[in-house]
Amino acid sequence: MPNDLMRFSVAMPEDLLVEFDEMVARRGIAKNRSEVVRDLVREALIEARCEVPAAQVMGTLTIVFNHHASDLQEKLDHIQHEHFGMVVSSMHVHVDEHNCLEVIVLKGFVEDVQAIADRILGTKGVKHGKLVLTTTEEMH
Ligand code: NI
Repeated sequence: MPNDLMRFSVAMPEDLLVEFDEMVARRGIAKNRSEVVRDLVREALIEARCEVPAAQVMGTLTIVFNHHASDLQEKLDHIQHEHFGMVVSSMHVHVDEHNCLEVIVLKGFVEDVQAIADRILGTKGVKHGKLVLTTTEEMH
């Protein structure tokens, strides 16, 4: 059966195993070595799937910017309206008197999602940002 759990043994240097066990412990009592290894394998597979050029992905772009920067909000809105078909949702948080945080959820081919993210991240006044990609596509 494809979803039966299969056992295999893994050899690794002791110091690496010690660090791994510390990470397993930090993830809480509901996690054990096997579950954390499964999580890491899934993460690596999703990352690999997102590298395939034709992959359909979901991207979460988080940016921080100063809302006093001249017409920055307008520029960011303009980019998102230009690509309205790929912008699934966005959330704006007023962090403090000066800073805003925006989370923009994008959907599409990995190259297009990456291109929009690069454009937003490259807009003058955006202080910091990061794109996280995921996909539900199976690997072929
Ligand atoms: Ni704001």
